[in-house]
Amino acid sequence: MGGNDKYMRKYYPDALPTKVQGRVITEMRTVAAATPPGCFMEVGVYQGGTAWHLCEIAKTQDRQVFLYDTFESRLPYATVIKGIFPDSAVPMPPIAFAHIDCDQYRAIRQSVAHVLPMMVPGGIIWFDDVVDWIPGTMQAIKEMFGDQYVVSDTKKVYVKIPRAE
Ligand SMILES: C[S@@+](CC[C@H](N)C(=O)[O-])C[C@H]1O[C@@H](n2cnc3c(N)ncnc32)[C@H](O)[C@@H]1O
Repeated sequence: MGGNDKYMRKYYPDALPTKVQGRVITEMRTVAAATPPGCFMEVGVYQGGTAWHLCEIAKTQDRQVFLYDTFESRLPYATVIKGIFPDSAVPMPPIAFAHIDCDQYRAIRQSVAHVLPMMVPGGIIWFDDVVDWIPGTMQAIKEMFGDQYVVSDTKKVYVKIPRAE
């Protein structure tokens, strides 16, 4: 068993499968849990691997969760919407944590354009796809946010929505 499998079994024995590394998940959970009141949402759910963790946090904090994918997904605690985001978007309360994991430049740009006006001050837009083998992801982030992004301890990129002065 690899190191990541051991980590997942130790800390998250009931979690759904995901290619996202355990330490990234732990950091994402910590960052999401610290956001101000508001819902969680995710674009790119697949088998629900990261969404499962968002639901776990949301349950303890009494937040709503909205999950979007072109595939059918089933996660009991969340509102799951099948279709191409943002065309498929349903009304949501102000968003505290948006997880954007949809792999492609155009989908990332369109997803962020939709969620940005709905983010609460102090909210977080977290990107999974900032990796060299998915061309254009970092380009999309830089075009939208310039250098106003954070590289996390586990080398993920996120954007924190400024709080009012
Ligand atoms: C890398 S997978 C998501 C992985 C998942 N977050 C996990 O934890 O394992 C990317 C998913 O994004 C979905 N996707 C891509 N573009 C989308 C869009 N515009 N709207 C909805 N889903 C999209 C794909 O169907 C695919 O299931």
